[in-house]
Amino acid sequence: MTVLAATDNAVLVRVENLSVTLAGAVRAVDGIDFQIGHGECVALVGESGCGKTLTALSLLRSLPPGVEKIDCARMEFEGRRIDLMGRSDLRRLRGGQAAMVFQDPTTSFNPLFRIGDQLVETIRAHRKFSRAAATKLAMRCLGEAGLEEAARVFGSYPHQLSGGQRQRAFIAMALSTEPKLLIADEPTTALDVTVQRQIVDLLARLARQRGLSLLLITHNLAVVARLADRVLMMYAGQIVECSTVEELFSAPAHPYSRALIECLPSLERVHSRPPTIPGNVPRPGHWPTGCRFIDRCARAAGGCELPQRLKAIGHGGRLVRCHLAGGLKNRVGGGDESGG
Ligand SMILES: Nc1ncnc2c1ncn2[C@@H]1O[C@H](COP(=O)(O)OP(=O)(O)OP(=O)(O)O)[C@@H](O)[C@H]1O
Ligand SMILES: [Mg+2]
Repeated sequence: MTVLAATDNAVLVRVENLSVTLAGAVRAVDGIDFQIGHGECVALVGESGCGKTLTALSLLRSLPPGVEKIDCARMEFEGRRIDLMGRSDLRRLRGGQAAMVFQDPTTSFNPLFRIGDQLVETIRAHRKFSRAAATKLAMRCLGEAGLEEAARVFGSYPHQLSGGQRQRAFIAMALSTEPKLLIADEPTTALDVTVQRQIVDLLARLARQRGLSLLLITHNLAVVARLADRVLMMYAGQIVECSTVEELFSAPAHPYSRALIECLPSLERVHSRPPTIPGNVPRPGHWPTGCRFIDRCARAAGGCELPQRLKAIGHGGRLVRCHLAGGLKNRVGGGDESGG
């Protein structure tokens, strides 16, 4: 089995052969492998419906309604088996050692309680702190998340804050348990453009200062370029490319990665709409038997109708699920098979 390897860092998260099945026995995530190193930012990228959120939730063994089961060969967090954890270990992991920040800061908090009380409660659920010590820590985390008026935010109800302030407060809450991994699922999508930039800068600073590992889920390639070390490109439940961020932007190896990059807005195109990839991601249960991108791929040729395995290109752990990659213009290395 191919493992999408963390580069130089010791491994914090290791996932092998993860699948998620929806009600009705429909696969939505289909046998994916990846690793996240200590202090590494891995971006999980792909269009809507590719399975990014389900992959992240599976890491915490959080099954939303409508999901039937998670299968995997193994899932590890610092060498401990997430897939074999009992309830109390899972509780310590979720919102403790591994915290998650969501897209919509309005729904992240309970609207009925003040922000400060929610932070204090979270801290005390995960750490043996007195109320006074938890309050002090909460105020410090709010300050660290760039909220200058920490005392006012502490005493506010969620609706009294702007979207950007709420997202900062939620990041503060995530940090308050001293996680080693922060999973950020579209953390900027619901915010306006200037605030998006500030939140991305905040995540970059916090990750650097605290040596946090980040699993960053986004469709926004500008955010990927700013934050990520490595990119896992996901399409229709599979990883189709694993590259460093430099490799991805300088020579995308999978036609899907290339198409997404070609759709980025550019300075020459400021007055025209950026192109989009024609067609849609096939829904779970409607995946082609061969390459899942075949119907939208400008390069589709003989051989694409067969199932595609991940193959290594080059010698740096780069992987691509396309039999044509490595032999075309964007060739980056040998194209040696390593199995999928
Ligand atoms: N709880 C659920 N019940 C039923 N189907 C679901 C559930 N969650 C996700 N799905 C389906 O599984 C597929 C993958 O969903 P997922 O939310 O992981 O996609 P995503 O890549 O995060 O997309 P987005 O970018 O829109 O957030 C989609 O087709 C989605 O409709
Ligand atoms: Mg999602």
